[in-house]
Amino acid sequence: MKKILFGLAVLAALGLQATASDKIKTNMDSMRNGLQSIQDGFSYNNKDQILGGIATIRKANEMFHDTKSAAKYLPKDKQKFAKVSFLSSYSLKTNLNQMEEYVKIDKIVDASDSIAGVVHSCTRCHAIVRGW
Ligand code: HEC
Repeated sequence: MKKILFGLAVLAALGLQATASDKIKTNMDSMRNGLQSIQDGFSYNNKDQILGGIATIRKANEMFHDTKSAAKYLPKDKQKFAKVSFLSSYSLKTNLNQMEEYVKIDKIVDASDSIAGVVHSCTRCHAIVRGW
């Protein structure tokens, strides 16, 4: 009985791990696609594509809604950076908001300036996760 329980616990732990990494993979694929849409939107003068890309990234970014949720995806030795990781997702959100507002008021050049802030936010978090 004990062996069975242990086996079940191991299976459950593996299952949880798979779910967490599936979730990050799905959301990060969305982040990548969203960024691509934004860039294409600027390249082909397509505002809807920019706005669509913003919405895609914003939705994927919801998984990091506080320090605790950001900490879940950090390696053990990087837990002390949980707050910085969360703040990078927060700055991602504010840069997307800024870009969206500029697109809405037809200030496209100003909107394009926000891309730097977006990529900076992605890279800030990846630098922590990957030890870049
Ligand atoms: C708050 C943290 C955080 C932010 C912000 C973030 N990412 Fe990630 N990203 C991760 C983690 C964690 C992984 C998984 C570990 C890894 O690949 O090193 C990851 C992985 C990825 C991957 C690789 C996925 C794979 O299948 O290997 C891509 C692509 C990616 N992110 C794109 C982006 C883009 C684009 C942005 C910004 C628009 C972004 N990420 C913002 C944490 C973040």
